[in-house]
This record gives sequence, structure tokens and C-alpha cells, in this order.
Amino acid sequence: MKPPRPAKGQTARTRPTPAATPAARPGLGRGGSGAASRSGSGGNGAARGRRGAGRPSAPAPGALPPPGPSVAAARGPRVLITAGPTHEPIDRVRFIGNRSSGKMGISIAQAAAAAGWRVRLLLGPVPTPVNDPAVKVERFQTTEELRTLLTKRMPSTDVLVMAAAVADYRPDPADTDLSGKIRRKGQGLTLRLVSTPDLLQEAASGRRPGQVLVGFALEPRQGLEAVARAKLERKGVDFIVANPLETMDAADIDGVLVGRDGATHSPGRRLSKGDFAAWLIARLTAEVGAGPRRRSPARGQA
Ligand code: CTP
Repeated sequence: MKPPRPAKGQTARTRPTPAATPAARPGLGRGGSGAASRSGSGGNGAARGRRGAGRPSAPAPGALPPPGPSVAAARGPRVLITAGPTHEPIDRVRFIGNRSSGKMGISIAQAAAAAGWRVRLLLGPVPTPVNDPAVKVERFQTTEELRTLLTKRMPSTDVLVMAAAVADYRPDPADTDLSGKIRRKGQGLTLRLVSTPDLLQEAASGRRPGQVLVGFALEPRQGLEAVARAKLERKGVDFIVANPLETMDAADIDGVLVGRDGATHSPGRRLSKGDFAAWLIARLTAEVGAGPRRRSPARGQA
């Protein structure tokens, strides 16, 4: 497989802001690449992002993991990527789902593998096959199944990229008969929904030092970065990839990477999901380098 190339753009770099808490902001400020603008001090949920366009420049020597997609050669950070929708059962044959195609997360997995990262992909119910031998794939259907996989895999993860479109609500399991089918009765049907857990927030609250967490946010274009910044603070993660609503199920993406340190990075133009994934991995490599795997993380905290 040919490694994807980072997209081009312009750069407006600024100095990194000191970390708010070292454990919550692992590895930041070590890289040298990316398009950035800074928009406030670290940890301020009210900070507003000025958007910059950028061309990733050469990363600091030693920051990049070895290139190449070979499984045996992969020595880079261990990245756990979630992708696709969840399907929450209504009965044995029906579910509540969403339009996520999983393409963005799959592209990120392939770009990370091409960059020499060690990649595990937790993939929801989508038909797209993943035939890259450098990507280990595990499948889920429901939020609860994804939660179980995350609990299992987070301890051996350096970077979590949470691209899955996880349901916020599901039919109350107490009312759901998974052995049969709800029959038509000629009148309306009321489904009672209950909240699902916020898996990203759970991962963030149970993180061990050195782990880097990246969430996604699909939002109306207006106020995109401000909403992403608030979400980043609420969930306690290091980065949010913010996308306008029309990204869902589309071939292209016009995303920005919002960081906890107040910086906002953007490739500067609309890209295919494959190219955006390559840009994102280059950007994250610049931010985290090979740092997480070089540290001696505290055990038993994930
Ligand atoms: N997420 C999660 N668990 C959920 C819902 C969302 O882990 N139950 C994750 C998504 O994978 C994504 C991030 O949280 O990385 C943001 O998801 P989003 O749906 O935009 O946020 P919500 O928490 O649902 O907030 P809101 O409903 O206000 O948009």
C-alpha cells in the first residue's frame, strides 16, 4: 500500500501554551508541523478559535515513527480508532442507527498504519471491508459492545481516536424483547429511550498518564469551533476534530483540529477523507510524536 501524503496548505504557527495539567495534555508542543492559529489560554472553555491554514513542515528529528505500512516494522504509537454508527435494537429485527459510513475512521486507520503506527480499529455495522493487514479490526453493533471493547483495549492504547457516531439514546433494554418482533397493532407506537453512557468521557476520566484522546464533533458550520471547544472541555479530551454536518456520509471533509491548548489547525481546504486522514495523522504525529510509547506509563489506571 502506498502511504498517503499529507495535504498542503499554509502555516501560521505560534508558540505552544503551557499545559493546564501535564497528565491531561500529554506530549503537546513537541512537534514542529502543522497549520495553527491560537485562540486563548489552555483549558479555557470559552476560548474562541481563529482558524489558520497550514502546510505541515518537517517534524522535529526523531518525532516521526518509522515510515511504511509493514506490520512487522510498525513501531509507532499504539492507536485505537473507533468508526461507524451504532445500532441499538428495538426488537430482534429493528434498530435505531445513524447515517455514519465509517469512512473517516477507516481512512484514519489506514493513514496511521501507513505512517508506521500500530493500529486497532473498532468498527461498527458498515459494509465497507477493511483489507489492510496492518489494521487489526474488531466489530461492534451497539454502544454497550463498543464500551466493552474500549474497556478491554484502552490499557494498551497510546492514542484514542473516537470517530464512531455513538448513539446518545437507545430503547430501554427493560422494554426490549430481542427474541421477537413488535407486531403492527394499527395504532401508534411509543418507544421509551434511555441515555447511553458517554464513552469518550468515560475513557478520558479513566485515562492513564501519557494517553492522548481525540474526539470528533459533527456540528452546524456556524459556531463550529466554539462548540467543539466546549465539547473538548466537557469531555476532558486533548483534541476535537470538528466537522460541519454535511460531512456525514459524504466523500469529502472540511474539518479542523481544535486543541486543548487553544490552537486550531486546519488543512486549509476541503479534502477527500483519505487526504484528510493523512493530514490528521501527520498533525497528530507532530503533536504527540512517538512520545506516548517512550514514556513509562503508570499501570492500572486505565
Ligand atoms: N461519543 C461517545 N459516546 C456517546 C456519544 C458520543 O463517546 N454516547 C463521542 C463521539 O464518538 C465523538 C464525541 O463523543 O467522538 C462527540 O460526539 P457528539 O455526538 O458530537 O457529542 P455528544 O456528546 O452527543 O453531544 P451533543 O449531543 O451535544 O452533540
